[in-house]
Amino acid sequence: EKDGHDSFMLKEIAEQPKAVADTLLGRLDPALGTLTLGPELGLDPAVLRDAEKVVVIACGTAHHAGLVARLAVERWAKLPCEVELASEFRYRDPIVGPRTLVVAVSQSGETADTLMAVRHAREQGATVLAVCNTNGSTIPRESDAVLYTHAGPEVAVASTKAFLTQLVACLLLALHLGEVRGGPGDELRAAARALGRAPEDVASVLATMEPVRELARGLAHQETVLFLGRHAGYPVALEGALKLKELAYFHAEGFAAGELKHGPIALVEPGLPVIVVVPSPVASGVLHGKIVSNIQEIRARGAHTIVLAEEGDEAVVPYADHLIRVPAVPPLLQPLVAAVPLQVFACELATARGNDVDQPRNLAKSVTVE
Ligand code: M6R
Repeated sequence: EKDGHDSFMLKEIAEQPKAVADTLLGRLDPALGTLTLGPELGLDPAVLRDAEKVVVIACGTAHHAGLVARLAVERWAKLPCEVELASEFRYRDPIVGPRTLVVAVSQSGETADTLMAVRHAREQGATVLAVCNTNGSTIPRESDAVLYTHAGPEVAVASTKAFLTQLVACLLLALHLGEVRGGPGDELRAAARALGRAPEDVASVLATMEPVRELARGLAHQETVLFLGRHAGYPVALEGALKLKELAYFHAEGFAAGELKHGPIALVEPGLPVIVVVPSPVASGVLHGKIVSNIQEIRARGAHTIVLAEEGDEAVVPYADHLIRVPAVPPLLQPLVAAVPLQVFACELATARGNDVDQPRNLAKSVTVE
């Protein structure tokens, strides 16, 4: 069943181009850059048009997809968007009501924290849309509408292909909201066309992973790895760190790069591996230069810099002890390509340490208790 792979995780990493393509299928016309999502959602368009805000609730990796959703919803649909850990949401007094669109993201559809948050939101009169990978599971059944991710069954405890398809579903939803609410037409069409190319982009990243594997094996003796990112790169940094914690039982932390001098830079000491997710030099405006300065700052303190940057970004080269290249894509799509090397990195490093990547210690695939 592992199709010749050593683990389900490796198989699921390899399946990502297809999972992404399947999740796009029938929902987006890549040539025209238009969406065909409306009828499938089955929500009254007025709910989307009149929504006052979007609240994304999710746990773990799904929460990281939600952080990307926020950027896309705010940018394309011009709607305020909050992202909340499902386990926190219901224990405060969240301001949700009939004009709130709650998006519950869950691979399994059975996560207790997310389910309880869904119930809580519906009690307040919110419309709940589930983004889910498991047909007929509890969260979609208890939601007003569902957008299924078509990743296929995910067996490995660490989420990989489900994450990429959650990103796709969240981006599709944000584009749809942008269309319904009269968002920036040219940008929406360009992003939709680029999203249509995502399966090939992910495949091209997968084809260049041997140096990343080698790097991971070389770092298997380490005890800490830090991840830095900004904007859409920040959730990627969090996800890279979570993968490493789950699989390698490492101390791994993701930070927003702008926070570096507010504390985390004190952790940097000679030889510490720091993985930096760099935004596009062209599309991200001033952010690129700021991250390059961060890389210089940590390198001056002896960090071993592992820089994940877009093809053609030459400005990072002098400061990178290791360079990982990803294809150039619009900024909000970067997590789709940037997350993949970090999955491969964590999987390889954990394997080199002799860990079982499909069944990491202490973890369950589906967390059905609080
Ligand atoms: O099934 P769900 O998407 O609701 O699960 C949420 C988290 O438990 C899950 O993403 C977890 O963090 C993964 N093991 C991450 O790899």
